Amino acid sequence: MTNRKILVTSALPYANGDIHLGHLMEAIQTDIWVRFQRLRDHDCVYVCADDAHGTAIMLSAEARQISAETLIDETQKRHKADYDGFSISFDNFHSTHSDENKLLSEKIYIALEKKGHIIKRDIKQLFDSEKNLFLADRYVVGTCPKCHAENQYGDNCEVCGSTYDPADLINARSTISGAEPKLKNSEHFFFDLPQFKSMLQQWTRSGTLQEAVANKLSEWLDHDLKQWDISRDAPYFGFEIPNAPDKYFYVWLDAPIGYMASFKNFCSKQEYQFDEYWDQEKSGGTELYHFIGKDIVNFHTLFWPAMLHSTGYRMPTAVFAHGFLTVDGTKMSKSRGTFVKARDYLEHLDPEYLRYYLGAKLSSGIDDLDLNFEDFVFRVNSDLVGKIANIASRCAGFVTKNFDGFLSGQLDNPALISELQSASHEIADFYEQREFNKAIRRIMSLADKVNQYINDKQPWVLAKNDPKSQNLHNVLTTSVNAFRILIIYLKPVVPVLAEKVETFLSVRPLSWNDIDDVLLNKKINIFKPLILRMEMKSIETLILQTKTSEDVMKDTIGDSITSNEEPKNKLEAEEIDLKHFQKMDLRVAEIIDAKHVSGADKLLELKLSLGIDEHGEVLTRTVFSGIKSAYQPETLIGRLTVIIANLKPRKMKFGVSEGMVLAAGPGDKEIWLLQPDSGAKAGMRIT
Ligand code: 2FM
Ligand code: ZN
Repeated sequence: MTNRKILVTSALPYANGDIHLGHLMEAIQTDIWVRFQRLRDHDCVYVCADDAHGTAIMLSAEARQISAETLIDETQKRHKADYDGFSISFDNFHSTHSDENKLLSEKIYIALEKKGHIIKRDIKQLFDSEKNLFLADRYVVGTCPKCHAENQYGDNCEVCGSTYDPADLINARSTISGAEPKLKNSEHFFFDLPQFKSMLQQWTRSGTLQEAVANKLSEWLDHDLKQWDISRDAPYFGFEIPNAPDKYFYVWLDAPIGYMASFKNFCSKQEYQFDEYWDQEKSGGTELYHFIGKDIVNFHTLFWPAMLHSTGYRMPTAVFAHGFLTVDGTKMSKSRGTFVKARDYLEHLDPEYLRYYLGAKLSSGIDDLDLNFEDFVFRVNSDLVGKIANIASRCAGFVTKNFDGFLSGQLDNPALISELQSASHEIADFYEQREFNKAIRRIMSLADKVNQYINDKQPWVLAKNDPKSQNLHNVLTTSVNAFRILIIYLKPVVPVLAEKVETFLSVRPLSWNDIDDVLLNKKINIFKPLILRMEMKSIETLILQTKTSEDVMKDTIGDSITSNEEPKNKLEAEEIDLKHFQKMDLRVAEIIDAKHVSGADKLLELKLSLGIDEHGEVLTRTVFSGIKSAYQPETLIGRLTVIIANLKPRKMKFGVSEGMVLAAGPGDKEIWLLQPDSGAKAGMRIT
């Protein structure tokens, strides 16, 4: 096997929010592949960075009254810690707001300009004169010009689906200041993508992309390509464009250059040559792979290769796109509160559970992947605990007790070990092709055989009959060797578990080549439990935590004030303005009905009365509330509580939830619904 030199990246997370399950799916997919390459003794470098520029980051910092630099520094630390918690083995985690990135971005831009690939022309854009800011589409809301639905964003209507020019919105408002935006002219710089059409047609069809991605791209490439707007006007948090005062590189121009910059920074600390990986002429012996989500393929497979190609850099060997992560069948979305942050997960669950579950489901395709909580618990317990760890726990004790910790000099069943060894090519191919689900299925079918072997031999019966028999010793030695091979196969997916096994077997870090060896006459250590059973209760607590205040705040008052920071003291949440509080319509509500929801583990369906309207009708709301663990539905009927009445309705698996009742407590049995003093009436506003 010749040693390959491989550079791998995963997409750079934005530096104004925490790492969540969506980021983790990509990082875990990349990390499994990287660890597999390293296990095969290839030289595989994995770099990433924070994507630190852009209007959103500038506004987040402003809302928190800190500098953008402080915000991105804090976020970078949090991101590193979050990824570390999931054993993501970056060789370098840098930032796009770095000296290396500034230099490289300027160099690439100047080279593009020299070659005539930059075009300058005036465009008209909505401008917020209160904030002195040109407004991207997502910062403008108004009434749809087609169907007159209110509160529609930028350039498309979620109600009737039509697309339009933001300038055509009726009663348009800036979401930042509330001011009415005006059209204003400004000179913008464009990258002349159409010049690269034939090169891209060829490159995208040369085996660099998954077929589904290449097909999608040919829809664009068969038509006229558009020039790409790469400049933004001040104020903007980013790099100023050389010789163009008050013009900044659009965040997506310098973001992928961040891959190079992170590697360059790595080279300053390690014996790696930048040119060997990035220079068009000198990079023939190295490979470059980008793992990304399918929503950003245009940036990685059109603009990025074109920029690289025309400025003397190498293009990616391949770009690997993946689908989105859904949770319990629903698209993850901040506004619906269905996203779980890495750090919340780590408080309740073992990261190896998630690595294993995603590994068992990931393929090379771009279909979405569903994290179904029940399936999650089932898969982890049945495979990792029931099939893998169980092999060692059923045998190791006898090795220690009956044979002084020593393995025997021979195997009872060499054929079983050969069968496990001979699957290595097939499993390696699955890993290489990113068909991790197939690799895991194959590994688990081998684990089934090993468990069957142990069931047939019944070492516990052999031990009872003749505790020190050669036969028992050989059976145990076969089982331990089989276990060792399975662990090598699983090592890219569950590295922490593998490390515990290395300690147990008293061996140096296992590598793919070790599959062919057999451990005989070797002293091994006392076995310690490798992994605990996963409990549904931990997931329920996690979900409850995820659903609490921060999401309520986000839905009610917009993303711009959400904090990236854990409160320093648990009682000290981020400060908000009175106007933010006043936006929340908190009402006294009477629970007029409460029932179980079929198929839901944690929810109760509540029917709430918000009093009588001017026509004498009872105003009702249906709310799904995660309080089942603490309340019998029938005990709630007739009670008063407090509801956030103007929370955007959320579509849940079981129906639409039209608000949120307020409750306190850590979860499980300890949840207490808020209840106003006697005298309060349904519908009263809480002020
Ligand atoms: O979509 C995103 O989250 C971007 N921050 C990804 C950037 S990837 C690369 F190009 F930098
Ligand atoms: Zn509409």
